[in-house]
Amino acid sequence: MSDADRGAVSARAAGRLVPLYSEEEIRRRVASLAAAIRADVGGAEPVLVGILKGAFVFLADLIRALDMPLRVDFVRVASYGERAESAGRVAITKDVELDLAEQDVVVVEDILDSGLTARVLLDHLAHRHPRSLRLCALVDKRERRRVAVEADYVGFVLDRGFIVGYGIDYAERYRHLAAIYTLEGAV
Ligand code: PRP
Repeated sequence: MSDADRGAVSARAAGRLVPLYSEEEIRRRVASLAAAIRADVGGAEPVLVGILKGAFVFLADLIRALDMPLRVDFVRVASYGERAESAGRVAITKDVELDLAEQDVVVVEDILDSGLTARVLLDHLAHRHPRSLRLCALVDKRERRRVAVEADYVGFVLDRGFIVGYGIDYAERYRHLAAIYTLEGAV
């Protein structure tokens, strides 16, 4: 943990932060995901669609690693009910603003958990008639998957654990941390 990270969380940590993915590991994985996306879209100008809020840090680094002509849009998805249950429902509260018809679209998700958010969003965006529609998840957490969804690009596979940092929150905290940590004892 960097000094800045340690200082920021020590006073109000609700649990214990255990380092999981370092800044350097994340940087390497983001570079590799960018290379894979660039290879797949060829010379086309893709549209990267970030899912608010959690994906904003990842998306910011990913587009700079892509270092190619592209466009960015955002969606916001609200969940209701118990997200770990298949009965959980999600609603799109902020839709894309760009026209996705005939575009190469990459949905950017910080963490793929139950899969519900990504599934609903992919089905929704498919109706915009993109030329291609792919999913990029920084962390693929399989432990609680409830809905059939596979990311085309995966940064890290995580079996279990509650993670924070690099855009990912616990009760809206910890998004600013530069690395990713497991939060133990608070959830
Ligand atoms: C988190 C995360 C993903 C979603 C994944 O968002 O950012 O978007 O959950 O969960 P799922 O696969 O079970 O649907 P959250 O609802 O916590 O909102 P946030 O991004 O604003 O933190």
